[in-house]
Amino acid sequence: MSTPTPLPIGLTAHIAGPVRWVAGAPCLPLILPEGSASREGPIAGRYFLARCAEEVDGERTDWSLYLRRPLYAVQQRTQETGDEWLLHLPPDEDPGHAWLRRRAEGVAVHLLGPFGNGFALPDSGRNLLLLVDLTANPGWLALLLALLEPMLDRGGRVTLLLRLDGSLDEAVLSHLPIAVEIHTAPDEAAWTQALTTAIPWADQICAGVGRERYTALAQAIQAKRFRLEEGFCQVLVQADILCGVGACLACVIPTANGGITRACTHGPVFDLTRLAQ
Ligand code: FES
Repeated sequence: MSTPTPLPIGLTAHIAGPVRWVAGAPCLPLILPEGSASREGPIAGRYFLARCAEEVDGERTDWSLYLRRPLYAVQQRTQETGDEWLLHLPPDEDPGHAWLRRRAEGVAVHLLGPFGNGFALPDSGRNLLLLVDLTANPGWLALLLALLEPMLDRGGRVTLLLRLDGSLDEAVLSHLPIAVEIHTAPDEAAWTQALTTAIPWADQICAGVGRERYTALAQAIQAKRFRLEEGFCQVLVQADILCGVGACLACVIPTANGGITRACTHGPVFDLTRLAQ
């Protein structure tokens, strides 16, 4: 069983500029106090909870948007002014997201985090296969992007398999290192074929795919590698995250043994063996 993450601390971040598009996903740039957010391991799969309300002297003055919104980490860089984080801000009509989108540069935003168990990269594995279904969630590629540089820096190889309708946008391509081998699957037959070819080559898989693909993915791995071993395939799950601390149960997802688990504290990245057999 995965270990729940410790309770996070509160942070005052500041908007570093307008929303930026990274690998097809809008991201909110925020400056956090240097060293205030843990940077152990990859940030991919981890998230913050953002308060969507005006503050005076650090106190909320507006309760119309009561719940915080989860913002997933896309990128982190150390700047002179502090740690700059790009957090995925979904381009939907949610009032909290719209409120964050309207914040001007320099405005403070209160965060809790980072939360969650993110992806873990192997110490020894050389070949990483990323699986991303953009037809299910156009933001998933951005959420896995932070795995690329650490893997390439240690001399590993990365293959990216994308399920998408149409062709890959040039703007998305520009965010992918040239060393990454990219395959696209415009339909289900091409996806299945590409998986069959790629799985034997991989030492590890990191995936952003919908729940309906877990069983087929487990079976494809078993067909090529005889069994699905723990540690071989990690999946970022989609869940409704509200409290982030395991209290509200809004984020529960079914597990392979017929139980349920909380994605906010035990995930949102899970080993595939926990989700499918
Ligand atoms: S978000 Fe509340 S229990 Fe997971």
